[in-house]
Amino acid sequence: MDLTEIYETGKKALKERDIGFLLDGVETEFVMRNNRTVIDRFTFRQHCIDGTDPGTRCEVLGVELSTPVIMSAMTMPIPAIVDEGLMEVARGLKEAGSLMWAGTPIPQDLKKIVDTGVPLVANVKPFQDRKKMFGALDEIQGAGVRWIGVEIDAGQGTKVKDRQMASDCAPLSLRELEQIRKAVSVPLIFKGVLSKTDAVKSVEAGAEGIVISNHGAHTLDYLPHPFQVMDEIVEAVGDKTAVIVDGGFRRGSDVLKGLAFGASLVGLGRPILYGLAAGGGDGVRETIQQITGELIRLMSMVGASGPGSVDRAVLID
Ligand SMILES: Cc1cc2nc3c(=O)[nH]c(=O)nc-3n(C[C@H](O)[C@H](O)[C@H](O)COP(=O)(O)O)c2cc1C
Repeated sequence: MDLTEIYETGKKALKERDIGFLLDGVETEFVMRNNRTVIDRFTFRQHCIDGTDPGTRCEVLGVELSTPVIMSAMTMPIPAIVDEGLMEVARGLKEAGSLMWAGTPIPQDLKKIVDTGVPLVANVKPFQDRKKMFGALDEIQGAGVRWIGVEIDAGQGTKVKDRQMASDCAPLSLRELEQIRKAVSVPLIFKGVLSKTDAVKSVEAGAEGIVISNHGAHTLDYLPHPFQVMDEIVEAVGDKTAVIVDGGFRRGSDVLKGLAFGASLVGLGRPILYGLAAGGGDGVRETIQQITGELIRLMSMVGASGPGSVDRAVLID
């Protein structure tokens, strides 16, 4: 299956199920529409004479990957899509040389996923019950994950259309983020940064990485797409912390734009679910590999030799 077929087959399979609503966005769905509109706004400055022969290998915070295209944090609804869904996702990502990122709920079998050899990252939500949050941090750390993510943007829980999903959360303070930093020994990533202020505070609290993200339209309505805020964030902290981006990325062209804005990795949420629904672990692997193939083809024609050398100037605003 090519990428279009994977997406169409996967979307259809998910929409036919009870879990299909999870593909929708919060309230008016502005964020979903805006994600696509903003990504589409940028075109490429072609440099085809003396084209490059680019590679996609990269290393971020001690994790070596074959591609800068990774999974965004998700657990639900993966187990309901295919049998052993989380293990299938792990296999597909491992075969593609990518990274797996678990979300809520924290999978019970984190250790089993780590044992597949896929680099695994897991998130915690800012549970109102802070004891529960610190307990979750311990549990994740004990399983051997490579990094830990904290959903700093889930202080008001999550919401899909009018349906409140996670509701047991409360915003974290800078002091609490510093306490989390002390409790965690692996690289710490704050997910859901959308302003320079939060980016600077994240670095102050000791985050080794940030995910610039609007949570795939699952938190607040009328949040911007990361590209609307990335220049100011990357300028402020781009040399102090690893920058990851997600939200609406579907093709190699989208990924190239994310790299041009200064991200070292680009996350996929729904495309992983489409790949899994369309073809199990093989569908996940194909999704990552086909997007990576598109990225290589484009990089060679904009004068980029690899993920770390995509200049902001390749974009025509
Ligand atoms: C079904 C679903 C479940 C998600 N669960 C989580 C989660 O548990 N934790 C989290 O930080 N983000 C979660 N997200 C957000 C993703 O990590 C990511 O930010 C977003 O999906 C990226 O946008 P995209 O789906 O357009 O690629 C979820 C997204 C979806 C679609």
